[in-house]
Amino acid sequence: MSNAEKTGPRRRTIRTFVRRAGRMTSPQRKALVDLWPRYGLDFAEKSIDFASVFGNTADVCLEIGFGNGDTLVQQAQENPQQNYIGVEVHEPGVGHCLNAARKADITNLRLIVHDAIDVLQRQMAVDSLNRINLYFPDPWPKKRHHKRRIVQPSFLELCADRLRPGGALHIATDWANYAEHIGAALGASARFTVSERREHDGDQPLDRPRTKFERRGLRKGHRIWDWRFERIDQ
Ligand SMILES: C[S@@+](CC[C@H](N)C(=O)[O-])C[C@H]1O[C@@H](n2cnc3c(N)ncnc32)[C@H](O)[C@@H]1O
Repeated sequence: MSNAEKTGPRRRTIRTFVRRAGRMTSPQRKALVDLWPRYGLDFAEKSIDFASVFGNTADVCLEIGFGNGDTLVQQAQENPQQNYIGVEVHEPGVGHCLNAARKADITNLRLIVHDAIDVLQRQMAVDSLNRINLYFPDPWPKKRHHKRRIVQPSFLELCADRLRPGGALHIATDWANYAEHIGAALGASARFTVSERREHDGDQPLDRPRTKFERRGLRKGHRIWDWRFERIDQ
């Protein structure tokens, strides 16, 4: 049993997010009610049976912290042979994403509104995902908040356990200090190897569309770092 499984049941006190008040529009609120039966998966302490959820055995990619979901919906639209599960805690973003999914009329996407770390621990079976996307995670720039950053050794262990051998972890950030942190954390991990790294000005995204937070970073003059890490077969 891996460390991530061993430490699974312990209650965490440090969260990687604070629930933002954020105004919910009425179409977003309506989507959370009307479209949830079609696209929503409730949090439960039980592994999801992907084949029964999607009605097929295609690969499943998990996107953590999808924000407003435009990038997630675009990827699902462009890759109908791949299934996607998006996890986000910010409900207005989830409502926005539900409306975009309905508009695109896609069938290969499901959403979960819950802490992605719990979702990985409880709802994703070991060796089940072919890819995890973590695009522009909250940077928590103040030093005293670095412990809130989602990229930590225990998180990487958990991702490696839920990915199948050879599965990929894609990460992008526009914060130079978080890029250093990510490079160091993954460099120290025995579970991943770097298969591609790009540092660019928004012009070379690695196998993904541009995201809302990436555009915000570019407007501030930030550079962008993209990685594809591959799970090492053990
Ligand atoms: C900086 S935003 C990036 C959003 C989007 N990926 C983008 O690039 O536009 C980070 C998002 O991650 C979400 N988030 C942070 N920690 C999370 C967690 N543990 N589980 C689910 N969502 C989380 C936040 O609510 C926020 O919407």
